[in-house]
Amino acid sequence: MRESTSAQIEEEAQRLYGLLGNVTDFKTGCKYTLEHCRAAAPLTLAANNLKKENDAVILAHYYCAPEIVYGVADFKGDSYALAKKAAEFDGRNIIFCGVYFMAQTAKIVNPNKRVYLPPISAGCSLADGIDAETVSELKNKYPAAAFVCYINSTAEVKALCDVCVTSSNVYDITAALPNRQIVFIPDLFMADNIRAELKKRGVDKEILSFGATCCVHDKYTVRDVEELRAAHPLVKIISHPECPLAVCEISDYCGSTSGMLDYVKKSDAKEFAVLSEDGIVNSLELENPSKKFYAVSRACAQMKRNTLNNIVGVLKNIDTAPQVEVSCDTAQKARKCIDNMFKMAGKK
Ligand code: 13P
Ligand code: SF4
Repeated sequence: MRESTSAQIEEEAQRLYGLLGNVTDFKTGCKYTLEHCRAAAPLTLAANNLKKENDAVILAHYYCAPEIVYGVADFKGDSYALAKKAAEFDGRNIIFCGVYFMAQTAKIVNPNKRVYLPPISAGCSLADGIDAETVSELKNKYPAAAFVCYINSTAEVKALCDVCVTSSNVYDITAALPNRQIVFIPDLFMADNIRAELKKRGVDKEILSFGATCCVHDKYTVRDVEELRAAHPLVKIISHPECPLAVCEISDYCGSTSGMLDYVKKSDAKEFAVLSEDGIVNSLELENPSKKFYAVSRACAQMKRNTLNNIVGVLKNIDTAPQVEVSCDTAQKARKCIDNMFKMAGKK
């Protein structure tokens, strides 16, 4: 690959600054600077050139840094949209900027592609929160239950479940299942939110939950909401269903990452406080320049392990970089679980 000239780097820095100048860098609390963009420019240029040379697509979750999401990604999205994009990809290499369970899902839905996660060991407190052995024991204990896993789970766990869900379809899918008893894993807080939402919809289900919580969203409190409302009386509070139920219940909107983007876009309000990962705040700032955002800043440390440097590193060494692998048997079973989600989510 040819090195970029200084004129090309400056042009790229200006392009990035034009995009990111209104976005908060939560490491400093200040807006992105031209200097920041100048530092990123050689790497975004390299990544954008190398991905073409390598027949690669870059998929990025909204929680990655904005220079990735808006600087090099071909597609940005929440976990559902990215799983769909991965399934449709026709080229050779998928560079998945996210965490391990997301890249595993990409490999499962498109097994003939080479899938890379730039920080290959980036994990998730939810996916780590329950293992296949525990799920097998639960299946023996609750033979009449439907087993529903959040997409934030390992391939081995998905292989044992009937259907997986994301935050964008969890309520519709759990409501539509024929079983009255549902074992939902591994997000304990999302399970609380499912119980509350299905009750509101008049749907009679018994939701049993096992697993863990998201180490980013589980930190938000009712006090955060009260303080934000006291400081900004006109603010609309938006939260993700991985937050505690008490927080979601008093939010103006609680929903998936794509749901939050839609809510803000359509709302006439001018001020929002976001109880979710910093990356979604950045996307909201970027896509709604006339609206103001307050954040109780929380970063997912695992998502932030995706960097322009490790993306370029993978692209430069595409034949030797470690790939995401899922054993054939596990992948086939997990695929059924994911396909059931695609089918049920598509029925809406
Ligand atoms: P989304 O399904 O909204 O992308 O959420 C994934 C996630 O990891 C949230 O913490
Ligand atoms: Fe996992 Fe939470 Fe990070 Fe999402 S924000 S990837 S659920 S640890």
